[in-house]
Amino acid sequence: MLLLLPFTMFLLRLVPSTSFQPCLKGSLKQTLTGGNPTIFSKTHQRLRLTSTTNNQVRLYSSNSPDLAGRKSSSVQKLNSSNSSPSKKKPSPLNLQPPKGTRDFPPPLLRLRTYLFTRFRSASLSHGFSEYDSPVLESESLYTRKAGEEVTEQLYCFTDKGDRRVTLRPEMTPSLARIIMGMKPALPIKWFSIPQCWRYERMTRGRRREHYQWNVDVWGVQGVEAEVEVISVMVRFFTSVGITQSDVGIKVNSRGIIGALLEGLGIPEDKFAETCVLIDKLEKVPVEALKADLEELGITEEQITALTDVLVHKDIEKISEVVGSDCPAVQDVRKLFSMCTDLGIVDWLEFDASVIRGLSYYTGIVFEAFDRSGTLRAIAGGGRYDKLLESFGGDPTPAVGFGFGDAVIVELLKDKNLLPDFEKGEVEFCVYSMDEGGTAKAMKVANELREKGCSVDVVLEEKKMKWAFKHADRIGAKRVVIVGGDEGSRGEVRVKNMESGEQETVKVAEIGEWAENI
Ligand code: HAM
Repeated sequence: MLLLLPFTMFLLRLVPSTSFQPCLKGSLKQTLTGGNPTIFSKTHQRLRLTSTTNNQVRLYSSNSPDLAGRKSSSVQKLNSSNSSPSKKKPSPLNLQPPKGTRDFPPPLLRLRTYLFTRFRSASLSHGFSEYDSPVLESESLYTRKAGEEVTEQLYCFTDKGDRRVTLRPEMTPSLARIIMGMKPALPIKWFSIPQCWRYERMTRGRRREHYQWNVDVWGVQGVEAEVEVISVMVRFFTSVGITQSDVGIKVNSRGIIGALLEGLGIPEDKFAETCVLIDKLEKVPVEALKADLEELGITEEQITALTDVLVHKDIEKISEVVGSDCPAVQDVRKLFSMCTDLGIVDWLEFDASVIRGLSYYTGIVFEAFDRSGTLRAIAGGGRYDKLLESFGGDPTPAVGFGFGDAVIVELLKDKNLLPDFEKGEVEFCVYSMDEGGTAKAMKVANELREKGCSVDVVLEEKKMKWAFKHADRIGAKRVVIVGGDEGSRGEVRVKNMESGEQETVKVAEIGEWAENI
């Protein structure tokens, strides 16, 4: 039987490779990168069949395609006794998850785990602790009045207890809520990888759900905290093979914007809303924001004067306008100087136009971007010293960033930096060539598992050719063949799938052997 092995392997080589290019192909690639069409009927009703068990088919229809919570779903019961099941075919099931969301079959989950492992290890190496919170939050946590996109994109609804709730669009307010309740001894360094939900227009790297690595320091007044979180981000980039020529981190300070607004006579209480508005100017023409500007009492001339200054990419030019002794300018200078000492300054560039679209930032803000200019922001963060106060808590300094899982994957694909995730990481596939020998194969597998190996077993009686094909499909490094002549001598045959080399090992010594390979 073993003589057939080379022929089997030859046949295997003829099977076309299904490896993902650069890491994922076809429908899986589509699942990861978006573009998953949801089936809507002409009336924009989403139709979903849910049960056919008790001779009834439940047809859920909703005029609103997503969880806006304003229209309750109507449930129509169609009694199948009116129409014979043999005649009436169920409508085809929509195989796509809801628009903008993803399934994670094993290759995609391996990719996600690859990313999360590196998020975790960068955070842990800087002494951050991991936390989590529920994906469902009270809507009131996000009802800020600054006209931010994020609060307009909530997946919110009224629950059965009449509470307004929402899927969290970001983690920072939940973190503030936890800290306000727990009152931990500060400073703290915490990180998390929550799934966040935003009803967003979908573009490359922007989805309706994403995982967002959050890294935050609470309780530190100085820019040391900014430097620390930026260092963690750089450590992550380096760990996945991204360099400072691929990615840059733009830095600015809302303190500088504040000084400019003060110079223009714009009152301090308009600061947060004005920042959100200026951030929007990047995406929409000033005319589209006229009404909002008027409401804030800001003239077009003031905006023009402001935007003229914001084009500067040189902190010295800005300091000529706001004064070199402006504390915000000094903070930015100190941040650059510390990053020079740490050898990460090449990642940074000052850019006065970076404002960030969230209203709670109060000081330094930063955004990681792809230098080729083709992708949306990779990550963003900043100082938000007044968020806790806005919830009625004590003033508490805080700095952090959010880093999505979608844009970075696009970048890693573009740079060809992703490993192949099609196959798993199984060390052994154990196969019995004897009829009724599966239990023996399972016993050998357990010996190997006792030594910490990952081992699959061929559970059904199959031909050797099938077993090798299976081993190849699951990415097993070695196949252990139980039974045959070797079996009668108390041995197994082990084949290395990469080199093709074979050896025999005594069953009684397999664990020890595995420890030494
Ligand atoms: P943000 O700029 O809204 O900040 O989001 C941070 C990052 O999350 C973005 O740069 C992007 O990588 C990712 N992201 C956001 N929305 C989407 C989306 N729809 N699809 C895919 N990725 C997305 C915040 O959320 C702040 N709470 C971050 C923070 C933490 N600030 C301080 N601490």
